[in-house]
Amino acid sequence: MLLRNLCFLVEEIMAQVKNQGTLKTPPIFERTFQALVSHGTLSKQTAANVMKLSNHYVAKPDAKSPWTEPEAREALLLYFHPLNQSRVYGVSQRAAQLGFFTGLTKLTEIGAGSGAATIGLLAAHSGFEAIELTDISKEILDLARDIVKHSISEKQTVAVRQSELQSLKLSSSDSPKTLAVFSYVLTEGRAIEKLGHFLKSNPDLEALAIFEPATQEDGRRLQSLRSVLQDHGYSIWAPCPHAEACPLLAESDRDWCHDRTPHFKPDWWDKLESELPIKNASLTVSYLFARKLKPLREPSVRVIGDPLFEKTKVRQMICRGPHREFMSWFPSRLGIKPEDFDLARGDLFKSSLDIFKDPRGADRSREYRLDLPAIQEIQKTNLTNSD
Ligand SMILES: C[S@@+](CC[C@H](N)C(=O)[O-])C[C@H]1O[C@@H](n2cnc3c(N)ncnc32)[C@H](O)[C@@H]1O
Repeated sequence: MLLRNLCFLVEEIMAQVKNQGTLKTPPIFERTFQALVSHGTLSKQTAANVMKLSNHYVAKPDAKSPWTEPEAREALLLYFHPLNQSRVYGVSQRAAQLGFFTGLTKLTEIGAGSGAATIGLLAAHSGFEAIELTDISKEILDLARDIVKHSISEKQTVAVRQSELQSLKLSSSDSPKTLAVFSYVLTEGRAIEKLGHFLKSNPDLEALAIFEPATQEDGRRLQSLRSVLQDHGYSIWAPCPHAEACPLLAESDRDWCHDRTPHFKPDWWDKLESELPIKNASLTVSYLFARKLKPLREPSVRVIGDPLFEKTKVRQMICRGPHREFMSWFPSRLGIKPEDFDLARGDLFKSSLDIFKDPRGADRSREYRLDLPAIQEIQKTNLTNSD
């Protein structure tokens, strides 16, 4: 068992390394790293500050972020900001592949902290002209304005507004082209309970992007928001490739939907991380992209699990409707190596193939066996391969 887990971990890290090897750090990240480090000084104390803030979030999940404390702000800038920026960038690229950002020229980040999600989104889509950062904390908004200003182009503008989500009223003339962003906010201080009020007060808001920690509790709570957004007239664009019930909520009591993204590290990262008990081999995040505009989508399949290596078989969880389903294949029987067909969590491919007709296994874990033509078809239509 231990050996199997170890093999699995090695495979996963190899996949990450392979993936990262082909990816370049977006130039906007480099500019942001300079701005972050100009506001926070890496010292012997930094790792302790990171642990203190991390423990605060674990011990008091309902409490507000302590941004009046300079040590907490420094931990955010030097540690949490780079993580969240990469997470948001990774999954925003998936939304960009679907044309999600078309026509959206204003970005309003709510509970912006230091603006990590704004930078991640701008790295995936540079077409936002006006950026607005809102938060309850004035201390953090002053920092966020400076960091985002330093990172954007001359054609883009940035404004800040100190406001509580509950009373936030967006400009109604801008709302039809606005994307409202929540990153690691709804989990804090019961902000999720205020989302319905925010949506009612801003009926013309066109688009929403929500990012939450990839924990069982936060991930499942986020997926349960799909129906709230649908009731307010939104269509879910990603990660879900369909508008039916979430199979992980409907057919499992434990699973939660989350993606895995590469981590673009600043040059101080490895030193800081070496002093911390937490290591991030890869980053995970739960997310939703929703718009009033309906997606023009062909039937597609989202990979929602890492590959599971079971003796001679590889199994991976997929999502294409309300049922909890898997695909599986036997590399040696097909004359291929496991790495010849390395679908990653989060990949999306077309479902126009004839492979979903002979399910095996129990109802809540139906499994479809892939043959070589099916594998070739998936590789050909995988959106990630078309980058
Ligand atoms: C965990 S931090 C996340 C910061 C940033 N969005 C990120 O992804 O790194 C949560 C942020 O939400 C803000 N916040 C919490 N509750 C809020 C509310 N009800 N209205 C507006 N902002 C809120 C906090 O001040 C804090 O900056």
